[in-house]
Amino acid sequence: MAAFKELVFSGVQPTGNLHLGNYLGAISRFVTMQETHDCIYCVVDLHAITVPQDPRELTDQIREVTAAFIAAGIDPKKNIVFNQSQVPQHAELAWIFNCVARMGWLNRMTQFKEKAGKDRENASVGLFAYPTLMAADILAYRATHVPVGDDQKQHLELSRDIAQKFNNDWAEAIVENGHGDAFFPLPEPLIQGPATRVMSLRDGSKKMSKSDPSDYSRINLTDDADAIAQKVRKAKTDPEPLPSEAAGLSGRPEAENLVGIFAALKGVPREAVLAEFGGAQFSAFKGVLVDLAVERLAPIAGEMKRLTQDSAYIDAVLADGSERARAIAQPNIDAVKDILGFVRGR
Ligand code: TRP
Repeated sequence: MAAFKELVFSGVQPTGNLHLGNYLGAISRFVTMQETHDCIYCVVDLHAITVPQDPRELTDQIREVTAAFIAAGIDPKKNIVFNQSQVPQHAELAWIFNCVARMGWLNRMTQFKEKAGKDRENASVGLFAYPTLMAADILAYRATHVPVGDDQKQHLELSRDIAQKFNNDWAEAIVENGHGDAFFPLPEPLIQGPATRVMSLRDGSKKMSKSDPSDYSRINLTDDADAIAQKVRKAKTDPEPLPSEAAGLSGRPEAENLVGIFAALKGVPREAVLAEFGGAQFSAFKGVLVDLAVERLAPIAGEMKRLTQDSAYIDAVLADGSERARAIAQPNIDAVKDILGFVRGR
């Protein structure tokens, strides 16, 4: 297949309560990737309305995710940071992909089954078609690499299937229009490792979640130093001291989670953490973890607070990012229209 220029795309839903899981699993990796790649980071507001949203809260949440990106260290000048609804090419390409993807493919999506629950008849059509919009997000830019959590792996595979089917079904027109043997790249997922899979602080077998009723189950990105410290100190543990090797973490989900969080925040492997703290009691380990978590996260919370108070600045970042995003997406959409045989003005 033709070589495509490496380009990173990822999206985050503006659904409120960003927490440590979003930070370690997604946002902090976005920050790292900007060192080596051109990156496009999108606040996916069109995806948010696949389930009910309060308009005022949605506005705040779009700004909050944008603030979190910037506070965490994403440079909106070097990269493109924008919200999906300001770039109509996403919805346009999503329609075309609705005509490429098969009902059978979407019927297999486990996230739809989970989100729709028992009352499937009452789920929005948008919730069902969610993955075709996600494919359009990525492929409108012909992006090649997509950092996502492992819950999004199936959606990424669907994006690849859509790209592949488009390339096959229109192979002749793709050649005739001068694009060689493939118009879309098959985007590669960059899935987070187990060390960045963050679990609830109250129950090591459940993922940290914005919808957990206990606020003590998660560290919100907006938590100040006191809240972070309290939550780490109250985190559930078991009575044994820490093991000195990773094998000793099996069957100890809370210990595994805290060690994983420590390692991810410090940017070292879990083995290094255990080499240092093996044999230590949790009380001692938590003391050091509090300091590390406060040092890494409290400045982000402070900066987010400052930025969300300056909504004019945030909105300007999004407007500028959207303009630069449209400039990349439009020629790709034009090419798709030519491939499909649509008539368009030139
Ligand atoms: N579905 C993703 C999630 O819930 C968000 C998303 C939308 C996304 N479009 C995307 C992620 C494109 C990566 C690429 O996490």
